[in-house]
Amino acid sequence: QTIMQAAHEGAVSGIIGECGGAAMCGTCHVFVNTVNLDDLPVMNQNENELSDCTATPRQPNSRLSCQIRMTEKLTGLKLTLPEQQLF
Ligand code: FES
Repeated sequence: QTIMQAAHEGAVSGIIGECGGAAMCGTCHVFVNTVNLDDLPVMNQNENELSDCTATPRQPNSRLSCQIRMTEKLTGLKLTLPEQQLF
């Protein structure tokens, strides 16, 4: 399960996920705060390019939550949501 899917199941607002996790919309943008960024899956080219087009400007800890599958390594993960997900 990805962070975006978990957020939807848990009714967490602020992660829209308009494209359903296909890495095409950028509306699942999050800032990763408390996990070693090296523990996250490597960002692929598609996510990297789309992260430059999010409604709230990209930061060094920006990720698209639909591209991160939850694993035990990510226990304790804390995220901050951007001010806006839509233009
Ligand atoms: Fe669309 Fe993540 S849900 S890019």
